[in-house]
Amino acid sequence: MTLLDGKKTSEAIQNEIAAEVADIKAKGGKVPHLAAILVGNDGGSVTYVNNKVLACERVGFESSLFRYEDTITEVELLNKIGELNEDPAIDGFIVQLPLPKHIDAEKVLEAVNPMKDVDGFHPTNVGRMVAGLPAYLPATPAGILQLLERYQIETSGKHCVVIGRSNIVGSPMSILMAKSAYPGNCTVTVCHSRTVDLPSYTRQADIVIAAIGKPEFVTADMVKEGAVVIDVGTTRVTDESRKSGFRLKGDVNFEEVAPKCSYITPVPGGVGPLTIAMLLKNTLKAAKKEVY
Ligand code: GUN
Repeated sequence: MTLLDGKKTSEAIQNEIAAEVADIKAKGGKVPHLAAILVGNDGGSVTYVNNKVLACERVGFESSLFRYEDTITEVELLNKIGELNEDPAIDGFIVQLPLPKHIDAEKVLEAVNPMKDVDGFHPTNVGRMVAGLPAYLPATPAGILQLLERYQIETSGKHCVVIGRSNIVGSPMSILMAKSAYPGNCTVTVCHSRTVDLPSYTRQADIVIAAIGKPEFVTADMVKEGAVVIDVGTTRVTDESRKSGFRLKGDVNFEEVAPKCSYITPVPGGVGPLTIAMLLKNTLKAAKKEVY
């Protein structure tokens, strides 16, 4: 069994980005600038956004964080998005999800200029991805592709079972794994909460990608010997022995599943760090006008 080291892979990608930024600076070019909008105080979201800002500093990007109370109105938020759309200093920006219930998230994501949509959540980028046109790919699925590619894992002709159908991970992941590119060319099955006898599908999978947000959902009996298992789950569970009071649990019961795998991602240190690296990569592409 080989552990897929997301932290190391993310560092390698960030080093590549930092080298490009140094080159841009040396040539007097535009330093990439990522902005983030964060509404409210959800613990996970605050940590993620802070990590994104820190990562910008590490690679030499400029960054801006706009924080709002969860009482912000939808109109106020849409106005801020309009401002960032128009600001030539900002190459790309993200609106951290989830948003409070009184705000229509779809309306907000649609308000982002697709050319600055480095999360790849705008329907224009989703459509372009499906059509195989240049697009910003959502960071977590793109990070998983990088992990498969950098570990040279064969995907062509394999059966990939994606558990989960969210707009952020499951749905785009299933499309990318089916596409005729490396890594891809898989036969893909999408399983979700309404799937009848889900283990009967995962047991046939050469590659399992678990993105349902249910801690330790995937157990040893659900996985074929020699499978590649990618765990996207990052549920916070209470752990009094830690200073933070919690720890992250994946969607896979790592201890019992790992011995059956050819490759597996740990949690933490698997997919998570790659999400940030790919967001930076999209921002670099935005600054270099590589997509649009
Ligand atoms: N919430 C969970 N994942 C993400 C992500 O990749 N981007 C944003 N903006 N919000 C998220």
